[in-house]
Amino acid sequence: PLVSMTDMLREAKANRYAIGQYNLNNMEFTQAILQAAQEEQSPLICGVSEGAARYMGGFSTVVQMVKAFMDTYQITVPVAIHLDHGSSFESCVQAIHAGFTSVMIDGSHDPLQENIAATKRVVSVAHAVGVSVEAELGRIGGQEDDIVVDAAEAMYAIPEECEQLVNETGVDCFAPALGSVHGPYKGEPKLGFKQMEEINKLVGLTPLVLHGGTGLPIEDVKRAIEYGHAKVNVNTESQISATNAIKEFFDENPDKYDPRKYLGPAREAIKETVKGKMRDFGSSGKA
Ligand code: G3H
Ligand code: ZN
Repeated sequence: PLVSMTDMLREAKANRYAIGQYNLNNMEFTQAILQAAQEEQSPLICGVSEGAARYMGGFSTVVQMVKAFMDTYQITVPVAIHLDHGSSFESCVQAIHAGFTSVMIDGSHDPLQENIAATKRVVSVAHAVGVSVEAELGRIGGQEDDIVVDAAEAMYAIPEECEQLVNETGVDCFAPALGSVHGPYKGEPKLGFKQMEEINKLVGLTPLVLHGGTGLPIEDVKRAIEYGHAKVNVNTESQISATNAIKEFFDENPDKYDPRKYLGPAREAIKETVKGKMRDFGSSGKA
């Protein structure tokens, strides 16, 4: 069934595992990710950025596509469709109107008070219709779609501000930027575990969200789960495995042209990557 993230993340935090948010980029990603979740019997969060939604034909088209494949594959695990890095109140409302069951309002580029005010507004609309909300503080490095943050701009979330935002807004989950990066890491990832532990104490039962799941050593992810993370976002790693499968195909078959011949193996590669993450994060068998 299509559900919000609220219950699945509470369960995950209480039982110390994390649910992956796997980003949709096109039809093959949608098929692969839904099938992976069903095969692993894992709860699932489908992440959709504004850019990816535009590419696929808009919020409503994405919702209809996900629903259609859930029907086709007889998906029985809980699935949330989540707006990733929503840039404004308006964008979140549009996603909710189109049938998204969850939204992220990313006010992390704004001053704290503005971030809190925008997040509050989104929470009041979302909660009225059973939709869950994620907020962010600090700045995640790297690039995702339209959002580019260079190393100098990347910022660690401040624990007291996290406590204030979570308490004042009533968000369902919260992403403190603590050194994680969108896209491949340059050098070794250095997550701020000290702040993480402190933030987790300050936010109580509220599940934390780890962005930039690609390229993080499994030990780091496990430690983040110990410190309250119940959601880990993965996009680039699925993209890389899909593209590698396509490159491999053309190395061996430079003259082929039927897209099904190379998108099929790409889809298979995404599915295997996602299934591996579900086992790593401990969400397999938790549906
Ligand atoms: O919001 C999406 C994620 O944070 C994805 O990060 O592409 O580095 O896996 P990633
Ligand atoms: Zn992110």
